[in-house]
Amino acid sequence: MLETLQEQPKDAILSLMESFREDPRDTKIDLGVGVYRDASGRTPIMRAVKDAERRIWEAQETKAYTGLAGDPAFGEGVRDLVLGGPSERASIVCTPGGTGAVHKGLELARLASGGMTVHIPDPTWPNHPAILRHMGVPTRTYRYFDPATRRVDVEAMVEDLSAVPRGDVVVVHGCCHNPTGADPTAEEWERIVSALEASGATVLVDLAYLGFGDGLAEDGEATRLMVERLPELMVAVSCSKNFGIYRERTGALLTLSENAKLAQGAMSSLNRLNYSFPPDHGARIVLTILGDEALAADWRSELSDIRTHMLGLRDQLASELRQRTNSDRFDFVAQHRGMFSRLGATKEQVEHMRKEHGVYMVGDSRINVAGLNAETVPLLAAAMVEAGV
Ligand code: LMR
Repeated sequence: MLETLQEQPKDAILSLMESFREDPRDTKIDLGVGVYRDASGRTPIMRAVKDAERRIWEAQETKAYTGLAGDPAFGEGVRDLVLGGPSERASIVCTPGGTGAVHKGLELARLASGGMTVHIPDPTWPNHPAILRHMGVPTRTYRYFDPATRRVDVEAMVEDLSAVPRGDVVVVHGCCHNPTGADPTAEEWERIVSALEASGATVLVDLAYLGFGDGLAEDGEATRLMVERLPELMVAVSCSKNFGIYRERTGALLTLSENAKLAQGAMSSLNRLNYSFPPDHGARIVLTILGDEALAADWRSELSDIRTHMLGLRDQLASELRQRTNSDRFDFVAQHRGMFSRLGATKEQVEHMRKEHGVYMVGDSRINVAGLNAETVPLLAAAMVEAGV
């Protein structure tokens, strides 16, 4: 039977990782997968994470199962991080990473719905449509990004969201939009949330980069506005990036609904059906950090350094491009937030930069800003100008 399997479509981001690995040039620059790197190109283990792991190793006496929703202390910590405190409407389960949370949110909606369509932004993280295809769920896109300004096309977005029928699901990026880096302003969010409220659709917020934009509190504002204004909400939280625990697969699905107990039961049941108990080690790291004032303060301070580092690279790249092109056309790079920016290069230009300059970015010209450093910023700028971007 298995020999009848068809070759599966490749994920663009993961294929790029492979081609980068195979490139023998030592001058190559990896701006592909969304993993943070510091000035020396390392993806460090955060100090608070190391400390928490040490404490866990010393104190942990059993590896017996926790619960289907994971350790409740993890859920409470993540809930407070996102919402700022408890809520009677909140339910939360631990999931394997943010991807697990997105998947579970979609499964939960499917369980509740009599036949939903899921609306995703154009563009979005390529795994969103891939997961939906795999689940056999009909998908539509709504307009999000204006390639001319490299900013959110809020008029078009509001128009499309206003037309979403009640009973459908809308996926939004809570902050640090992946792949463009273009986020709505606070005023634009007000309009977007009003459109969502009027439509009666159920929103799934993908919150993978909390703390990578303007700060932990600032990056959660749009989500909290939705919590305030919408009768129900699902939030897929990832701890991969902001705790730097990519391979531990730590995330959570948080829901706000009228009957929190019912949602909690359904989410725990979906955990059981998919993989039984969620992984614990990463969640334990997070709960250990969030449950200790000193550790939490150190984590916040290191996260803030990471954010400042990326903002510095954005400023440097924008200013380098201003000088080289004698124009302000790339100033958007400094205004974008999070790990990514979509530069607006064509597929051919992206390919040219890869071949001739060893610069690896995703085919839609998404760059991972954290893949740069002070020395490689001018090299990227030069490659862009040479390629005619
Ligand atoms: C990315 O967009 O590069 C990250 O979210 C990593 C991934 O799994 O695609």
